[in-house]
Amino acid sequence: MTKNIAVIRGDGIGPEIVGQAIRVLDRVAEVYGHTFNYTDVDMGGCAIDKYGDPLPQSELEKCVGSDSVLLGAVGGNKWNDVPGNMRPEKGLLRLRAGMGVYSNNRPAKIWPQLADASPLKKSIVDEGIDFIIVRELIGGIYFGEHKTEGDVATDVLKYSEAEIERIGRIGFETARKRGKRLCSVEKSNVLDSSRLWKKVMHGLCEEYPDVELSDMLVDNCAMQIVKNPAQFDVIVTENMFGDILSDEASMITGSIGMIPSSSLGATSCGLYEPIHGSAPDIAGQDIANPIGTILSAAMMLRFSFDLDREADAVEAAVQKVLSEGFRTGDIMSVGCRKVSTSEMGDLIAERI
Ligand code: IPM
Ligand code: MG
Repeated sequence: MTKNIAVIRGDGIGPEIVGQAIRVLDRVAEVYGHTFNYTDVDMGGCAIDKYGDPLPQSELEKCVGSDSVLLGAVGGNKWNDVPGNMRPEKGLLRLRAGMGVYSNNRPAKIWPQLADASPLKKSIVDEGIDFIIVRELIGGIYFGEHKTEGDVATDVLKYSEAEIERIGRIGFETARKRGKRLCSVEKSNVLDSSRLWKKVMHGLCEEYPDVELSDMLVDNCAMQIVKNPAQFDVIVTENMFGDILSDEASMITGSIGMIPSSSLGATSCGLYEPIHGSAPDIAGQDIANPIGTILSAAMMLRFSFDLDREADAVEAAVQKVLSEGFRTGDIMSVGCRKVSTSEMGDLIAERI
């Protein structure tokens, strides 16, 4: 199989972690007889420096024209003072919208080898943590009108029934393939958009009689994630709630550095990125954890290229390296061997 992958290394630790994911993809290509062609795309702070624009149209087109996009991370203090619509993050938002990837899938799963790294009590962790957050990605307050007039700033949170329905279906379908429990998270005691959200979710129920739907207010959900994470199978929620809850969910699994994500829309061309940021404080030191990006590449193999066997091989290689006791600094614990970003990439690639 030949696939063309657009690669956005981005800022901070982005180039280092993406480099390791590519090493792993190359190993997959070699072992399983595929060809992956890579096209570099500039986005984020590096694109602001180069073109004065966090995602020039020509760069976006390279992504839309590819079979899938692999992204490291964008942003950094250096660009903190640029205007809102020119920030590195704006490049990412334009990319998501431009690719039409409305459905963001963020797994929160505890790796048995890393159970010690969770900040939760052992008794809670032992109940199990294995759920997925399905986050709506191209609507809501992120994409409503933003404006500042004098001393008043406004951001508009808007959802249409159609936008809610299409992400709702992904939630139900994701639950159908797993434990068949879907929790719809909103703030319907305050927001109109959430009342619409809840209504649309319940409207979908009868099409998915095998899935049990429950509702939860987002503030309660934030609490339940630390109190009793084992209760969740699939959570479906709007853009900003999903942003916040997915950081929380990642932390209880031990390290945000471990969590991959996929973003898909109407086609198989997806966007794959770790959920963490560009960590400028540790950039260029070869110490960042590349596993979130490597697992994102595995998701690309599985969801965009239908290469399940290859994706399984990457995930098994990560398991193996962890079982053998190799750790980057963020997941280091006693008795383990600390390795660098590139050593971690080598170890995983070698085990495929
Ligand atoms: C994420 C990030 C982004 C978001 C930022 C960088 C715009 O936090 O992917 O979770 O808020 O979606
Ligand atoms: Mg976030």
